[in-house]
Amino acid sequence: MRVAIIGQGYVGKALGIAAFGAGHDVVGIEIDSMRLAELSSSVGYEVSSDYSAVNGASVVVIAVPTPLDEKREPDLSFLKSACESLRGVLDSSVLVVNESTSFPGTLRNVIAPILGDAHLYASAPERIDPANEKWGISNTPRLVAGMSDEATAKALEFYRSFCKEVIAVSSPEVAEAAKLFENTFRQVNIALVNEFAQIAQALGISTHDTLAATASKPYGFMPFVPSIGVGGHCIPVDPSYLSFAAEKAGVEASFINLANSVNASMPDYIAGKIGTLLGSVSGKTVQIAGIAYKADVSDTRESPALALIARLRTMGAQVSWHDDVVAQWNSEKSSALAEVDLGVIATAHSGVDYAAWKNGKTMVIDVSTAPNTGWPKFL
Ligand SMILES: NC(=O)c1ccc[n+]([C@@H]2O[C@H](COP(=O)([O-])OP(=O)(O)OC[C@H]3O[C@@H](n4cnc5c(N)ncnc54)[C@H](O)[C@@H]3O)[C@@H](O)[C@H]2O)c1
Repeated sequence: MRVAIIGQGYVGKALGIAAFGAGHDVVGIEIDSMRLAELSSSVGYEVSSDYSAVNGASVVVIAVPTPLDEKREPDLSFLKSACESLRGVLDSSVLVVNESTSFPGTLRNVIAPILGDAHLYASAPERIDPANEKWGISNTPRLVAGMSDEATAKALEFYRSFCKEVIAVSSPEVAEAAKLFENTFRQVNIALVNEFAQIAQALGISTHDTLAATASKPYGFMPFVPSIGVGGHCIPVDPSYLSFAAEKAGVEASFINLANSVNASMPDYIAGKIGTLLGSVSGKTVQIAGIAYKADVSDTRESPALALIARLRTMGAQVSWHDDVVAQWNSEKSSALAEVDLGVIATAHSGVDYAAWKNGKTMVIDVSTAPNTGWPKFL
């Protein structure tokens, strides 16, 4: 099949590689020129900023950002703009698949009306988990649903060419809602364990011993780990797409809203505890190890480590950070780990050598999700 993938970010590139590997004729469309230059030398398929390269495709997959706006409500501007650009170049009937995460009804009520009824439409939400070595695009079950039986059949044929398990669900809205609900499940459970860590600290009980004890229950329990909070493009964002849809439908998504506020308050909670630990934070040197939102990725979107840095600076601390995976953030560069008053492991990238902190003068706390960095867990 000739396959055009709109958006060549994390999701679009992974799909491009998988589809190309399955023998499809792939073109990736990307509007960011720096990203495009990087891709041209790293992927084997065609990439272009010119939408006319979509011509001749029988499958068009959309994988563009769906962030939140400043009111923390869904921002579909990238999605709408990609559809507007596509409208000008789709001359014959194609299968349009949306992989971008959004609320139920996006395919039917936003994408299809822009592109018109000459095409077939399907939803196939991406579930990729960056840096997960066990579950990738080929072995994570893929949910697919078309707006017609023909669309479903074509989408199943496409995804079955590179995914081991493709599950047809009853409607695009079910596929869209399932993606939001699975990430909301994580968001709410992470918030719950973050709240429990605060309760356990106040009661003087070990959070980690308690969690290890509860995890021995063979049914009805699933372990989650307390941390500095949630980041990335999914867990802090997707649940708000569901709460937005809920509120539009007259239902208050109180769990989602509460979980958002518990997770978002973690950097402040940790900064407060650091204040108690150091007596006063003002003038103290603090170094944060790992500012990406998760280990072994360079993505800093919504990273709670950045909120902790900002908070500690407001409190008067001299804060530096070390993250060779991110390397540069805003106008700042990663600094080498050095002797400081307090070292904070926010995100534990693999292979980091913490030797510079092992001098007996640097106090170190670990607020990452890593099982064991060799430093005491703070939460
Ligand atoms: N990253 C993940 O782990 C993940 C997992 C599952 C689902 N998703 C969802 O997949 C979608 C894409 O996420 P991502 O992480 O790949 O984002 P990303 O920001 O890494 O990539 C999106 C790319 O689309 C490009 N783009 C934006 N507008 C465009 C346009 N009009 N035409 C062509 N290209 C355009 C951007 O320049 C960017 O390179 C989002 O809806 C996200 O929620 C992401």
